[in-house]
Amino acid sequence: MANLTDNLLNWYSKNKRKLPWRQKKNNINPYFILISEIMLQQTNVNTVIHYYKKFIFNWPTIESLSKARLDTVLFIWQGLGYYNRAINLHKTAKIICSKYNGKIPSTYDTLIQLPGIGEYTANAIMALAYNKNTIGIDVNISRVISRLYNLNLNNKKEISKNLCKLLPTNRCNNFMQGLMDVGAKICKKKNINCLICPLKKYCNFYNEKKKIKLGVLRNKKKKFLFVYLIKYKNQIILKKRINTKFLHGLMEVPNNLLDSKTSLKIAKKNAPFELNWKIVPGKLNSKISNFELEIRFFQAQVKKKIFLKNAMWVDKNKIQKIPISTLMKNILSYLNFV
Ligand code: ADE
Repeated sequence: MANLTDNLLNWYSKNKRKLPWRQKKNNINPYFILISEIMLQQTNVNTVIHYYKKFIFNWPTIESLSKARLDTVLFIWQGLGYYNRAINLHKTAKIICSKYNGKIPSTYDTLIQLPGIGEYTANAIMALAYNKNTIGIDVNISRVISRLYNLNLNNKKEISKNLCKLLPTNRCNNFMQGLMDVGAKICKKKNINCLICPLKKYCNFYNEKKKIKLGVLRNKKKKFLFVYLIKYKNQIILKKRINTKFLHGLMEVPNNLLDSKTSLKIAKKNAPFELNWKIVPGKLNSKISNFELEIRFFQAQVKKKIFLKNAMWVDKNKIQKIPISTLMKNILSYLNFV
């Protein structure tokens, strides 16, 4: 899916965060990447910035760090927490200087042997310092990929598999940082801002959310209305809605609103009054608030007027003067009564 990758790289070139360890393409200092990645292991970016600057000011090269006293390193690290990171970093600097001639290793197998460097940091150094064809997958990147492909956030294997398919040739450095920035600025844990996301076109999370908003999935919220029209000559019974959440006080044809589909036979049995009900053929589809309505009809012709509580007989040509809802107007119109 080259387009997703291109979109991300494009977005990153215009929107990247300015962070002190990010350097010009042809001028990358792997030591700066090593220090920042160790500091960022358990600490957020805003906290790290200040410590990173102080650290680089004190030890601008790996040689200077390898010669530093551990006490001094710990003193500068004070407040950043997880002090084992500082102890391991100091050891790693010594090993790199004695064993690798002061050059930060660029292969996974060598990096992973160094104190304090785990799978994530080894991959991050390879991608960010050497532009190798790999990526370090941190929590931000995991979240972005899990939403893109609808994966469980804990399913590291699937996240990594999907991510590998997206890696660009020669630009893994920017690609990784771009994904981190999308995760930190847009695809956040809360307050997700999909509308400005460069990946929204490809994103499962965004597209599902959009479908719900547009109502494509609305038929999940379907309801079923059965209407019971009682007729005497030119008159029908209308009942008053009492203590109802919606349309309180309006008049309506007696009805039953159900959450699930029911056969006409059962609906007939459950009619509010025992009368000789006849099915009116056909159905009407409508919408009220955020659900769809399927409306079916029964009618009963009575030979003698019956009287119901909170109800009245209304002449066909007087219905216009009665307060009824638009839905009821549509129903009466379907039944040729208005
Ligand atoms: N978190 C871990 N590594 C990072 C980096 N290089 N930039 C921003 N956040 C990070």
